[in-house]
Parts: sequence; C-alpha cells; structure tokens
Amino acid sequence: MTGTLHVWLRGQLLGQLDELRNGHLRLRYAAEALDTYGLGARPLSLSLPLTDKRVQGDRLERFMDNLLPEGAVRGALEREHHLRPGHTFGLLAHLGRECAGAIQFTAEAEPPAPGHLIALSDDEARRIVAQLPTLDPPPGQVVSASLGGVQAKVLLARTDTGWAWPADGAISTHIIKPEPTTDVAVPDLIRWEEWTLRLARTAGLPAAHAELTDFDGRLALVVERFDRHEGRRTHQEDLTQALAIATRDKYETSVDEHRLATVALAAGAEAISPTAFARDLLSQVAFNLLIGNGDAHSKNYSLTISDTATYSMAPLYDAAPLYLLNSVLQHFGHNLAGQGRLRHLTATHLAAEASTWRLSTVQVTETIAAVATQVRDVLPGCAALGIDVDPVAALIDARAVDALKTLA
Ligand SMILES: Nc1ncnc2c1ncn2[C@@H]1O[C@H](COP(=O)(O)OP(=O)(O)OP(=O)(O)O)[C@@H](O)[C@H]1O
Ligand SMILES: [Mg+2]
Repeated sequence: MTGTLHVWLRGQLLGQLDELRNGHLRLRYAAEALDTYGLGARPLSLSLPLTDKRVQGDRLERFMDNLLPEGAVRGALEREHHLRPGHTFGLLAHLGRECAGAIQFTAEAEPPAPGHLIALSDDEARRIVAQLPTLDPPPGQVVSASLGGVQAKVLLARTDTGWAWPADGAISTHIIKPEPTTDVAVPDLIRWEEWTLRLARTAGLPAAHAELTDFDGRLALVVERFDRHEGRRTHQEDLTQALAIATRDKYETSVDEHRLATVALAAGAEAISPTAFARDLLSQVAFNLLIGNGDAHSKNYSLTISDTATYSMAPLYDAAPLYLLNSVLQHFGHNLAGQGRLRHLTATHLAAEASTWRLSTVQVTETIAAVATQVRDVLPGCAALGIDVDPVAALIDARAVDALKTLA
C-alpha cells in the first residue's frame, strides 16, 4: 500500500480508500457507515452498494476518476501537483475536500475541517476568471476543489460582500465558466446555455440557475450549485458514476448498453416513487431532444442521493441547442431505442425507449407531450441579449409540434 485517504459523506466517515502498490484503488466501508445505512444500501453511488468486503476494480476506479476534471484542465492540475497523467488517487489527495456532491477525502483520520473563505476584491475575482483556463489562485493559495467536465471553470463562494476563494476544502457555491476561447464549434456558447437553462426553468423543469457576468471583458456563466444549500453539501453523482462507465466513454455508442433504461430501472428502484423518477428522467431527455442538445452525454445528467440513500433526478445543467446551431454536433449522448444521432431521432424513438422503463404508454405520451407543450408556451417570451434566438426558437417550436403530432 502506498497511501490512504479517509472518505467522508456529508461529514460522516464512509470508509477508507487505499492506493495499492500496483496503483489500483481499494475501498473499505467503515463499520459506522454500515450501521447507519445497512448492507446493500447505496448512499455513495448506484454502482457501489455498501458491503463488508473490500471493494476493488473498475467500478471503484471509474467512480473516483469521474470526480476529477477532464482534458487540458486535468493535465494542468496534474502538472501543478507533479503527478503522472491519470493518477486519480494523487489528485484526490489534493482536490478531494471539495467535489461534486457530499463526498470528501482527507489524509487525516479527523472529520474534514470546514476550511475557510478568502475574500476576493472585485479586481481579483475578475482576474481569476479572465485568466482561465490558467487557474491562478490568490497569493499563497492552491486549488483545493474538483469538478468534472472539459471546459475551463473555477469554483468560488458567493458571500454577502462579494466573491471568495474556497480554501482548504471550504464549500463553493458557484461554478464560473467563461466563454471558451479555443475549439469554438458554437459561438456564444455560454449565452446559449444561459438561455436554455432559463427556457427549461420557465417551462417548469428543474434546472440549474445561471446568469451571465462580465469579468474584465470576458463573459462568464455563473451557475449556482444545486448540491450546496445554506452551507451544506447534498450528494449527487453523474450517470457515468451511477453506471460505472469510464470518463472517456461518456457518449453511449453501443446499442447493447441501454444506459437510460438501466438508470430508469435501477435508480428508479432506489427512488421513493420509481414511476415519478422515470418520468423526471424522461422529461429531461425529452427537453434535450426537443432543443437538439448535441452534448447530453452521461456526465451531463446527474442523480441526487438523499441522506437515507433514496434517489431522484438532479436538476438539468450544461444544456444548449448545439445541434440546431451546428449540425455537426448531432451526438445525443445516449441511444433512444437504438438510435443516437439527432439527425434521425424523433419523438417515436423517445416513446419507444421510455416504454421499456416500466411506464405505461399513457404515462410516456403524457410526459413527453407536457414538456413539448410547456416549451412551446414559454418559447415566445424567452428572450436573450447578444444572440439571435428567434431562428433557433422557431426550430425548437417545429420540433415540439412534430413531437405532439407524432404522439397524438
Ligand atoms: N449547477 C450545478 N450544481 C452542482 N453541480 C453541477 C452543476 N452544474 C454542473 N455540475 C457538475 O459539474 C460538472 C461539470 O459541469 P458542466 O457539465 O457544466 O461542465 P462542462 O465542462 O461544460 O462539461 P462538458 O465536459 O460536458 O462540456 C457536471 O458534470 C456536474 O457533475
Ligand atoms: Mg458537462
């Protein structure tokens, strides 16, 4: 064994994560976690039920790896901490006190300290965001927080007096994503994301709250974390973690996987109402289909896990009408009845897919039709600054009309 991290969930000991000599990870759940939740409960992840045996293998490795950023952002963090590429354990030792959800890692056996917030002047906050993807903490500070995803982003805490840097694992409240500067397949991406999340919320779908802010001439999307509430962490995992999928496989390609059906049934079985859960998942997938979201992969849907280990859909996030803005971006992320390309996908595929989720035909039809109707209702009133939403709104409206006709 080369190292040990203590794993905490909502501030309570969950277990011990060891890095073995061969580089692999091993998790042992703590007796107190087994007492609290019981054998077989899934308070951490759908893919990692509590057991009194040691946990090793792909499920564990993938769950942990999926807590970390991807791509260039991850590479920069690895270099900063002098870690070899792909060294999950090493990065968790540095960044694991503030992750997505309520999981935390500490080197010491004591419960994680609350950390502290370092107030940032407006100028400092502007500088930090404007310099992304280079993450340049305030003097004397290091990055001690982690979130998945490819895009450059910074986690900050909003206080009564302005922005603060969350140091030593302190709670962050917002994700700040500036407009990307490279690989721009869709100009004004973050304006579209803000508009889309607002469209979803106005249509009655739970979706992350986000606003646009100018940081020293660089526009950024300021997203409120839905897994932070009044200074507390609530737990969540994304679908790659729930299904034990490697980060690089976040887009479903094989027609044999049936990812969405697996989530609907397996996470639904851990929900208070399996039917309500399946309908919530269906509503999110229907919205993404109607708006032509060409990036709705398995890291762009998440599950919320309560303190009694019951599952529900987390709010929608990271959504934009990418396919309608650039038809190259037509990968829907998941297959619907075996089809994953937006060019071919229709409400018929979605209805056929959802009919395998233990929903009746009426429930499937009603759920999709409700989303289509609500989106149509609110589209005309959903304006945006700096982007011409009208042509895209017209396309979405036509897609919703089509869906309603198909289902009638
Ligand atoms: N509002 C939110 N509250 C809590 N967690 C969130 C929220 N939005 C996103 N996340 C988490 O942060 C991760 C990264 O966010 P997001 O998907 O917006 O980043 P991204 O880099 O644009 O992703 P991608 O790689 O899909 O382009 C998500 O996968 C999810 O786990
Ligand atoms: Mg994402």
